This record gives sequence, structure tokens and C-alpha cells, in this order.
Amino acid sequence: MAKIIGGITSSHIPAVGNAISQGLTQEPYWKRFFDGYEPAKAWLKEAKPDLVIVVYNDHGLNFFLDKMPTFALGCADIYENADEGWGLKPTAPFTGDAKLSWHIAQSLIDQEFDICTCQEMKVDHGFVNPIRALFGDHVDWPVKAIPLAVNTVQHPVPSAARCLKLGKALGKALESYPEDTRVVILGTGGMSHQLQGERAGIIDVEFDLECMDKIATDPEWMTQFSNAEIIRRAGSEGIETIMWLVMRGALKDDAAVLHKHYHAPISNTGAGVLVLDNQ
Ligand code: DHB
Ligand code: FE
Repeated sequence: MAKIIGGITSSHIPAVGNAISQGLTQEPYWKRFFDGYEPAKAWLKEAKPDLVIVVYNDHGLNFFLDKMPTFALGCADIYENADEGWGLKPTAPFTGDAKLSWHIAQSLIDQEFDICTCQEMKVDHGFVNPIRALFGDHVDWPVKAIPLAVNTVQHPVPSAARCLKLGKALGKALESYPEDTRVVILGTGGMSHQLQGERAGIIDVEFDLECMDKIATDPEWMTQFSNAEIIRRAGSEGIETIMWLVMRGALKDDAAVLHKHYHAPISNTGAGVLVLDNQ
């Protein structure tokens, strides 16, 4: 049986990729941010997942504004990374698990989540940087990975409530997979940030900390907010935080909070790491 052993959150700031590849993680600017990942890395070493499902948003690499699926699942055995314009050197490709992906696709559609299935899918900084921050850089990645893309870019964007429900359906999909596979779900993106316009640079530390607490222990709390309310508090790209709810919904209500770390700002963003143990 597939087993969801835990969930982790991480922002995906492009500069994180450059800091890793340039060996800057212990520089004063980056140290506290990367130190926040150490307990997550230690837990992953113990827990030894076979596969991570990365809930992330594409930023114009695989999808563009002309065609934007609300939810899209990778159903391939390999995922190539490419740079959509940040100057990031592409990572080694990721090994997927098409058989598991198709099982998830069937189960999600049976549960009335009519996702887009992608047999070719390029993955951008939103997917690779959380993996790099948690596992370091590799030529052969130590885990398989399946991308689950959520549109947080082109409105209308799905609601926090819808993302939490998708997570619950994803949990059921995984629980019904007959093969033994240890899965960790990564809820990526966020927290508060806005990259353009008059409010560029806004960060709401108080809101971020409350979201972190509540997503860990009472995720329904987040569903009281409309997307407009989240954007008002957390900025236009702060809406990415709704993707954490997909991870949270897939876990047990009483999953244990093993680690919580927040750092702001890093680049333009409030960055949060949560580690939830589902065992
Ligand atoms: C930054 C954050 C993002 O989520 C993103 O997609 C691009 C840039 C930033 O803070 O620099
Ligand atoms: Fe982003």
C-alpha cells in the first residue's frame, strides 16, 4: 500500500536555486533561511520517502496565459527542468512514476476533480527549488517525484477550500494504491509576497505566522478567506500559500507538527517551512 508518511512546506524563490548552486547557503544573508531546513532534512533522512508529490504552480514554463489548467498532474516517467527566465542553470531531470500518476488521475476524476493529465511536463523553479532546498543538488535525485500543478497565476484561481478538498481526494487516491510506496507531499510556494505594482515588496508577517499555525492544526480556518482577501493581506503572489492546503488535506487531521520555521524577507518573500509527520 502507498503510505503518506508526511508533508513539508517550502517557498520556491528562484534566488534559492542560485544560492545553492553558488555555495552561498552559509553566507549571512542566507544562513537563517537555510538553517530552517535542517530539521526537515534530518527527518527526510530518517523517513526515507520513495517519492515526493510536489504541489506547485507553474510560472509560464509549461503553461502560459493562453492555456491554463486549474489543476494539472504529471503522468510521465521523466520531468525535465528548464529556466523560464530567471537565469537558473537547469537541474538534472527527475524520475516520475507514471503508473502511480495514472492511478491518482483515475481516483481524482472518480472523486470529481477533473484534472488535466500531462504526459510531457517541464518543471520550473516552483517545483525544483523546494526539492533542492530539502535534498540538496544531485545528478541522480534520491527520490522519485510527481508534479501536481495548481493555477495561482491566471485568475480565476481555485479557492483555499477547493485546494483543501483536492488534498483530501489526493489522500484517498494514494491510500488506495496497492503497491508499497512511501510518499511525502510537498506544499510549496508562498508565503506573503508581491513582485509587481504599487504594493511590490509587501510582506505581512502576522498573517503568515497565523496561516502557518492554522494550516498545521486547523486548516479549515484558511477556507474562511476569499482569494481577494488573501491577496489583500499577503500580496498578489501570496495566493500561492493556498497550495499548502493540498498537502495538508492529504494528511490526517491529527498529523504531528515536528518543525516550524519562518524567515522574512528572503528575496521578496515570507518563507515558511513546516514538517508534519503523518505516521
Ligand atoms: C520570488 C518569489 C516567487 O514565488 C517567485 O515565483 C519568483 C520570485 C521572489 O521572492 O524573488
Ligand atoms: Fe512563485
